[in-house]
Amino acid sequence: MTPPTFEALSTPALVIDLGSARRNIAAAVKSIGSPDRWRPHVKTAKVAPVMALYLDAGVRQFKCATLLEASVLADCRSAANGTGPADILIAHHLFGPALVQLEALAKKHPTVRFSTLVESASQVPSVPDSVGVFADIDLGMHRTGLDVDDVAETLAIARAAGPRFGGLHAYDGHRHEHDLGERERLAHAGYDRVLRSHGELQSAGIEPVEIITSGTPAYPAALTHSGLGEIHHRVSPGTVVYHDLRTREQLPDHAIEFAVTVLTRVASLPSTDLFTVDAGSKAIEAASPSLIASAIELPEAKALRQSEEHTVFRCDPAIRPSRGDLLRLVPGHVCPTVNLASTCLLMEDGQPLGLAPVAARGHAPLGT
Ligand SMILES: Cc1ncc(COP(=O)(O)O)c(C=O)c1O
Repeated sequence: MTPPTFEALSTPALVIDLGSARRNIAAAVKSIGSPDRWRPHVKTAKVAPVMALYLDAGVRQFKCATLLEASVLADCRSAANGTGPADILIAHHLFGPALVQLEALAKKHPTVRFSTLVESASQVPSVPDSVGVFADIDLGMHRTGLDVDDVAETLAIARAAGPRFGGLHAYDGHRHEHDLGERERLAHAGYDRVLRSHGELQSAGIEPVEIITSGTPAYPAALTHSGLGEIHHRVSPGTVVYHDLRTREQLPDHAIEFAVTVLTRVASLPSTDLFTVDAGSKAIEAASPSLIASAIELPEAKALRQSEEHTVFRCDPAIRPSRGDLLRLVPGHVCPTVNLASTCLLMEDGQPLGLAPVAARGHAPLGT
C-alpha cells in the first residue's frame, strides 16, 4: 500500500520520523559512552519500530512503566531473532493481578529477564519466583521508594530477594533545575547518598548488582559523577529518543532532533494576529501552559491556550497561515502526546513509510 502523504491524512495526526529517532539514540549512546550503560525507559518510544531502533543500537536492557509496554518490547525479541531485549525492568509497584500477569509474561518470554520494584521487604514474597527485584530508592522526588538513608530496609529487601536481588533503582526525576551547575551539584549529592547505601550493602556482604539513576535532565550529571563510574551503574533517560520543547530547555547544549510532530490544519482565523489549529489537548500534551507546542513552519508563532480539539496561536499578521494550511507541531511534552494517538505515520527523513499502531499506548484492556 502506498504510504499516505501529509495532504491525504486527516488531522490531527501523530508523525514519527525514524531517521531522527535513530540519530537521537546514537547521540545518547555516544554521550553515555556505551549501549550497556543505558537502560532507556520505553514509555516514550511506545511503537515497536522505535523499540527496534534501540536493539539495532545494541541496547539490551530497558525500563517500562506498564505491562503493555513490557509485552510489546518483549515481542520485539522474536522479531529480532533472539537479539531482542534481554532484561526488562517494570519500574512500577505491582500488586495482585498485575503480578500474575507479569509471571505469565516471564513464562512466555523465558529468555528475557524481568524485574520489578519494591519499597518494603514485606512486598518481596508476593513477587513471582521467576521475577527479579530492585529496591526502589527515594532520592527526594517523594513519589515512590524508601528513603535513600534507610539502609536497614534496603538490606532487608536484598536478603528477602536473595539471588533475585537486582540492585537499587534511584530515579531522581525532580532534578531539573534551570541552572545546569546547580542541577549537577544537587544530583551529585543524591548520587553520593546512593553510593553510601551501596557501600553499606557491600559491607553487609550483599552485592547490589546494578544502580539505576537519572532520566533525561539529570543523566549528564550522573555521567560526570566519578563514583558512579566505578560501579555497575546505568542511566535511564527515555525522552531523548524523540525530544520535545521541554528537553530542548533542559539540555541546552545537546544536539536535539525533534522526531515527533503532530500534523494539524489551521481551522480558524479568529483575528488578524491569531490562528487556531485542529489539534488540542486530545492530541498534544503540554509540558506547562507556557510550553504547549511550537510549529516547525512558524517557530515565531506562540501557542496561547488549548481546549480539547483546538490550540490558539498568536503571530505577526504578516505571516499568519491560511485556513486549511498544514502545520507540524512539536509538543511540549512528547511522552503523553505519543500516548494520545492510536496510530501514527512513520517517516524516514521526511519520506512517509506507512501507518503503524502505537501498540504500547495506555494499558492493556481490563480482563486481558
Ligand atoms: C522511573 C523513571 N525512570 C526514567 C524515566 C525517564 O525520564 P525522562 O522522561 O526524563 O527521560 C521516567 C520518566 O518519567 C521515570 O518515571
